[in-house]
Amino acid sequence: MSIAQSIKRSKLFYVTTPIFYVNAAPHIGHLYSASLADCVYRYEKLRNRSDRLLFSTGTDEHGSKIQQAAAAHNQEPKQYCDKISESYKTLFENSSINYTHFNRTTDKDHHFPAVQHFWNELTAKDHIYKANYAGWYCVSDESFLTESQLKENEKKEKVSAESGHPVKWIEESNYMFKLSKFHEDIEYWIKRSNPIRPKKFEKVLMEYLKEPLKDISISRPSDRVSWAIPVPGDDTQTVYVWLDALVNYLTSAGYPDPKFAANWPPQLQVIGKDILKFHGIYWPAFLIAAGLEPPARLLVHSHWTVDDQKMSKSKNNVVDPNKVTAKYTHDGLRYFLLREGVPHSDGNYSATKVTRIINAELVNTLGNLLSRVCAKNLNKRQVVPQCIRKELHKFDSSHKLVKKLKQLPSIYEEHFESFNFYLAVDEIIGILHMTNALLQEVEIWKMVKDPTQEKKFDAILGLVFETLRITGILLQPIVPHKSKELLDRINVSADKRSWDDTKYLLDGEHEERPLSKISHKLIERIK
Ligand code: ME8
Ligand code: MG
Repeated sequence: MSIAQSIKRSKLFYVTTPIFYVNAAPHIGHLYSASLADCVYRYEKLRNRSDRLLFSTGTDEHGSKIQQAAAAHNQEPKQYCDKISESYKTLFENSSINYTHFNRTTDKDHHFPAVQHFWNELTAKDHIYKANYAGWYCVSDESFLTESQLKENEKKEKVSAESGHPVKWIEESNYMFKLSKFHEDIEYWIKRSNPIRPKKFEKVLMEYLKEPLKDISISRPSDRVSWAIPVPGDDTQTVYVWLDALVNYLTSAGYPDPKFAANWPPQLQVIGKDILKFHGIYWPAFLIAAGLEPPARLLVHSHWTVDDQKMSKSKNNVVDPNKVTAKYTHDGLRYFLLREGVPHSDGNYSATKVTRIINAELVNTLGNLLSRVCAKNLNKRQVVPQCIRKELHKFDSSHKLVKKLKQLPSIYEEHFESFNFYLAVDEIIGILHMTNALLQEVEIWKMVKDPTQEKKFDAILGLVFETLRITGILLQPIVPHKSKELLDRINVSADKRSWDDTKYLLDGEHEERPLSKISHKLIERIK
C-alpha cells in the first residue's frame, strides 16, 4: 500500500442512532432510525474508505419516565429495563442492524464512569453552578419547558406544545449548566461546519438561536428522581437524563479512556426531528464546554405516521415491527422504510402501501427478473454467460441500458452522500424495469428456441445478469439479506461485492460461470 493510500485509509467512520427510551416496546419509527444508520454504515463498508468503523445504538433507561413506566407495570426499574432493552436488541439483530456497540445507560461498568467523568470535566472548567430552579417540567419529553413551549389542551390543562404531554410545576435545587455562554459557539458550529441535514432543520435551530439561550438544569434531587446516575460528590442530586443519554455517544467511543480520542467525533449522528434541540443545541454546547469536538454531521429525519395519524399508544395504532415482519419479512419492511421514507417530510405507513411496494418492486421487478433468467426452460445451460458486446449491436435498448448501468454507481453515490436513499433505489428500480422491458422487446422466449440466435441470446442474458450483479451489489445497504441471496444465486464470489466491483464489466472481463444451485424464490408475493 502506498503512503497516500495508507493515510487515506487510517480514517474513522463513526455513526450513531439515538438511544431509545425503554418505557415501551420498539416501533417502526425506532427501527427506521436504526435502519438509516445501518444503511449508511453498510454503504461506508462497501466504499472501503475507512479502516475503523463504529456504529453505536442502545437504550436510554434512566429518569422519571422510566421509573413511572416500571411502576405502572409493577416491576422493579432494572427488571423492566432489562426486558425492553432486550427486545430492542432482538429486533435489531433480526433486522440486520449491524451495530458494533449497544449502550445501556444503566451499565455501571462503562457508562456511569463516562457520565461522571464528563460531569467532573464540566465542573473543573467552571460550567456548572448550583441554583434554585422553578419551571414547568414535562416527564414525557424529559424536559423543562418555557412558557412559549406550552399550550392548553381541550381540558384546559397546560401541556407541551410539541408533544401534547402534560407538564407540572417543579421548584427545586439543581445544578445548572451555563448554556447561555455557548450561544455563539453553537451558531459558529452550525454556520461554519454546516453539520445539519436536511437544511430545513438548520432553519429550525436558527429559530431557537434568535432568542438568547438560557442556562439549563442538569440535575434532579435524588428523592424525586432516584433512578439515575448520582452526581459525583453529591448524593442528594442525580444527573439529568438528557445529559446522561447524550454522553452515551462518548461511552461507545471509549470515553473516558484517553484513547477514545481516536474515535471522536462521530461522522454522522442520525436523530428524529423530535430531539433536534437536544442534539443541535445542548449536545454541541456540552461538548464544546468539555473541550471536545461536536459531531461532523446530524442527519435529522421526519416521522412516520400510520394511516395518516400520529403514532401513539392512546390511538392504539403503534406498528410493532416484530408483528409486521412475520408478513413482510425483515428485508421487506426495511425496504419499504428506506424506499418510502424521505428525511425532509413525514412518511405515511399503511399496510396497503407496504404490500403494494414490496410486490411491485421486490417481487415483480427484481424477483421475477431473477427467476426468469435462472429458469431451466430459458437458461438451459444454467450459466451466467459472457456478455459479448458486439452481439448486442442490433438492440438499441440494450445500449441505453449499458449506458445507464455505467452511470449508476456515480448517481447512486450522489444520492447516498446526500442521504436520499430513496432516489438511489429509484434509479435501481428504473434500471431493472428497463431490463425487464429489454427481455420483452427481444422476445427472449422466441430467441431461446432459435439456434441461429444462440450468441445473441447469450449476450442478452449476460447483460441481464450484469444488471443483476451491479444492482445486487448496490442493494446491499438497503436489503442485506435479499441482496446476498441474489448475489449467491448468480454466483458472485463474496470478495467481489464491493464498490470497486460495481463497474460494468465489458466483454471478456469475466468468464462464463455456472449459476449456483440454490433456487428458491427471492421473495414471496405478499397477499
Ligand atoms: O427521545 N417516526 O428516545 P425515544 C420516525 N431517549 N422515527 C421515530 C418516530 C416516528 N414516529 N418516533 C420515534 C428519546 N422515532 C431519547 C433519545 S438520544 C441521546 C436520547 C425515533 O425512545 C426517532 O429517531 O423517544 C426519535 O428521535 C427517536 O426514535 C426517539 O426515541
Ligand atoms: Mg420520544
